[in-house]
Amino acid sequence: MAEQIPNEKTIDDTIDLLKEGYLYIKNRTDEYRINLFETRLLGQKAVCISGEEAVKIFYDPEKFKRNGAAPKRVQKTLFGENAIQTLDGKEHIRRKALFLSLMGPDAQQRLAQMAAAEWEACIPKWEKAVRIVLFDEAKNLLCRAACRWAGVPLREEETGKRAQEFMDMVYAFGAVGPRHWKGRMARTSAEDWVRGIIEDVRADKIKAEDGSVLKEMALYRDKDGRQLDAQIAAVELINVLRPITAIATFITFAALSLLEHPRYKGWLEGGDEQRIEWFAQEVRRFYPFGPFLGAKVRKNFTWNGYEFKKGLLVLLDMYGTNHDEKIWGDPDVFRPERFRDWNGSLFNFIPHGGSDPSRGHRCPGEGITLEIMKATLDFLVNKIDYDVPAQNLNIPLNKIPTLPESGFIIQNVKKKT
Ligand code: HEM
Repeated sequence: MAEQIPNEKTIDDTIDLLKEGYLYIKNRTDEYRINLFETRLLGQKAVCISGEEAVKIFYDPEKFKRNGAAPKRVQKTLFGENAIQTLDGKEHIRRKALFLSLMGPDAQQRLAQMAAAEWEACIPKWEKAVRIVLFDEAKNLLCRAACRWAGVPLREEETGKRAQEFMDMVYAFGAVGPRHWKGRMARTSAEDWVRGIIEDVRADKIKAEDGSVLKEMALYRDKDGRQLDAQIAAVELINVLRPITAIATFITFAALSLLEHPRYKGWLEGGDEQRIEWFAQEVRRFYPFGPFLGAKVRKNFTWNGYEFKKGLLVLLDMYGTNHDEKIWGDPDVFRPERFRDWNGSLFNFIPHGGSDPSRGHRCPGEGITLEIMKATLDFLVNKIDYDVPAQNLNIPLNKIPTLPESGFIIQNVKKKT
């Protein structure tokens, strides 16, 4: 059987991965009409898998582990070293419970309401501005809201710098050269800042509110009753602030989708919450953000006729699964109503990973993301009018992560009456 599994017979396919970006895995699974193939990336053998059945095995903790899967260059930029992303087993489940306890429905609503209030507060300034780059506004606004929500002190004049650092970490993923180094410098600077705050909370120099994300992270104890090293606590607190800021990317895609599909503006007017939610879900499915996820085989097993050997690197295609025609029928059509019929599976819609977040690595911030997107969509559709001037809205699929080139410029903003 194993001979039938396609193999990219190259010395190393990293250059093709860089050239094809989000489409690298999908191009091959489409061409071979199979949901796995073997390749070599960054000097090692790897197997790429895609589709709902692939998601199910990828999230089986008996088969896969995360420790040792993420390259150092990703840990030094996007994740941080010794972060939750690299943990397995009981230690992971325990730390994950901390994250999830801070991100329940009430906390989601509180943050979304803060974001909504911040958007409304932008209107007077925007009405006077010649042009507004939505991505830049969103990242600063979300960084400010994230810090306030988490109880992290942030001076207004510092907001732009910290927001940029968080985005530089995100946009270092998949980068080589200057973009990678920018991400490393951003991480060092942000970790120094946040570690200082954690130490001040522990020394009682900063009074953190009971139940706040800041206090819970600073005082969290592992299963042996030990506090996290201040450096690791900083990495984990950044693991909350950075991705909230990064929702700016989805917000930019949401604004673009309103422009590209103007009939949905009318559909969303009036603020029907169900429609707004379907629209936000479709933005998360349709546009490229997370490309793929990596894990290492924990112990030998066979799947679809292929022998997965202990230690093998496996990449799960997120973008391809969100565009799999077996799941979505017409994946390249932007159609929010499709979520009316979606079966709610934990394994077929994976912009934030798959399976149950309390048992595996699926993102704990999915609810926050959705609520912030809904609040922002309501603002863009129901609270303001604006024009979109000619600009470069191309989304390069060979850049990971990507974004409309212009960052989405709007002008002539007016408050709706
Ligand atoms: C993990 C996507 C927002 C916190 C992940 C994973 C993905 C993801 C794909 C990895 C899943 C896996 O490894 O199996 C996103 C996207 C977001 C977003 C596209 C939108 C911007 C958030 C938010 C938070 C957050 C708002 C927190 C407030 C985390 C954490 C992890 C994670 C802590 C690691 C979980 C673990 O390893 O168990 N996210 N996320 N993310 N995300 Fe998010």
